[in-house]
Amino acid sequence: MIAPSLLSADFARLADEVQRVTDADWLHVDVMDAHFVPNLTLGLPVVQAIQAVSPVPLDCHLMIDAPERWAPGYAEAGARNVTVHAEACTDPRAVARDLKAAGALAGLAIKPGTPLEAYLDVLPEFDTLLVMTVEPGFGGQSFMPEVLPKVREARRLVESGHLQLFVEVDGGINADTIEQAAEAGADVFVAGSAVYGADDPARAIAALRALAAR
Ligand code: DX5
Ligand code: ZN
Repeated sequence: MIAPSLLSADFARLADEVQRVTDADWLHVDVMDAHFVPNLTLGLPVVQAIQAVSPVPLDCHLMIDAPERWAPGYAEAGARNVTVHAEACTDPRAVARDLKAAGALAGLAIKPGTPLEAYLDVLPEFDTLLVMTVEPGFGGQSFMPEVLPKVREARRLVESGHLQLFVEVDGGINADTIEQAAEAGADVFVAGSAVYGADDPARAIAALRALAAR
């Protein structure tokens, strides 16, 4: 699945920017609070507005403190998948339960320096594992191949039946890097600058999809 990140879109024309990626699988929305990450983007009212105009299911990536308090609102708004950061959660299991009760898939994100092993016991509660392939906070950074062993390990746990998860990668995914991520076992690919920086986002999505399937 290809999930264009709205972070690289024109925020003054969000409804139009949503319409440029209608052939995407998920629309990735980066919520940043200037606490968990140094950057600030948008919050629930804007996500509700995007949800109202998007034919593509929303994939909300919450880079925020206190996800226990805020994440369920995004599920109630109708997002398909809501991902919280493991590093920000005091009780990941409770967040997963609340998200699923509100009708969304529950995602757990880990930063490049966060080991997968630390969360193996809670992952059965989740539907999506988001392995960050850059430090969260900004679009347009370079892909970190050193993170791929975590993608491989997650894929191995899925293949062996120990976990049932989408394995998502986010950060620096483009035509030069997506094949490595796919080969390692990712099946959801977030791409911000590679899609919205292209003259024709629909073609960029199709090209990324073809490369991931090789
Ligand atoms: C970074 C965000 C990403 C970002 C990816 O913290 O989580 O979703 O938009 O942008 P690119 O694809 O440009 O690296
Ligand atoms: Zn993201």
